[in-house]
Amino acid sequence: QRSLLGLKELEREEIESILDRAQYWENHPSKVNAIAPGKFVANMFFENSTRTRFSFEVAEKRLGTEVLNFSAAVSSVQKGESIYDTVRTLESMGIDAGVIRLKPIGVLAELATKIKVPLINAGDGNNEHPTQALLDLYTMRKQFGDLKGLTVAIIGDILHSRVARSNLWALTKFGAKVVFCAPENMQSAELGGTYVSMEEALKADVIMMLRVQLERHESGMIKSAEEYREHYGLTVERASKISSHSIIMHPAPINRNVEIDDELVEHPQSRIFTQMQNGVPVRMAVIERALN
Ligand code: CP
Repeated sequence: QRSLLGLKELEREEIESILDRAQYWENHPSKVNAIAPGKFVANMFFENSTRTRFSFEVAEKRLGTEVLNFSAAVSSVQKGESIYDTVRTLESMGIDAGVIRLKPIGVLAELATKIKVPLINAGDGNNEHPTQALLDLYTMRKQFGDLKGLTVAIIGDILHSRVARSNLWALTKFGAKVVFCAPENMQSAELGGTYVSMEEALKADVIMMLRVQLERHESGMIKSAEEYREHYGLTVERASKISSHSIIMHPAPINRNVEIDDELVEHPQSRIFTQMQNGVPVRMAVIERALN
């Protein structure tokens, strides 16, 4: 039984085996494969989610597990119960694994030292979002065959992005080159990395746009959506300059016409909905790994 807390500490071979198993599940699209009957998995979302929460649920149901959906908004968290007490409560009821999304930084790492069942990180503050990066790598691998030698430009709110962090750490293990492009107040000195101009970023094989995370901003981080779009948005005009082999990605949810123009979301070079589709087999592989 194995937790998945992040990709920074995971060996490249381990990541590769998750991606290979995801490919197996994609090749076996039957709705339910009862490989884990009688196993209980709790989805514990202390922060909002659509894609991650539902693709975990689909993945769990396709593996034949019993799914418990915990929602902080209708739980005893509203009476002041702590995250630890909540997770410990579900553990004491006999869950076999927990999928968890948290806002506060550092809580997941501490929880993992106290909780015995495997925990899967479904988004940990602005630290890591490993299953998002796994599905991103899976999408790139399917597109290009190999990650080695690819240039991936991650554009936007790097400072608040757990997606950027997990992608940086995972992609570099495979020999891909990651460059960032962001306004100065959205760059992360702590994360490091190479920052390039928008013009340079658009030469990459993968143009990964990030959502401007207004809910994590101090006030005044962007002057206006229009100004952000003008300097850092993937506009139709900028997209017309990208190479014909390049792909556009975005973890979503999307602020249409802020970081990416509406017309580009389902552009032939966009893989945004493919990323969401790939989330299911990737999360099947991650849940199976946790339960085996
Ligand atoms: N990409 C992502 O994590 O989306 P949700 O917040 O909807 O889960």
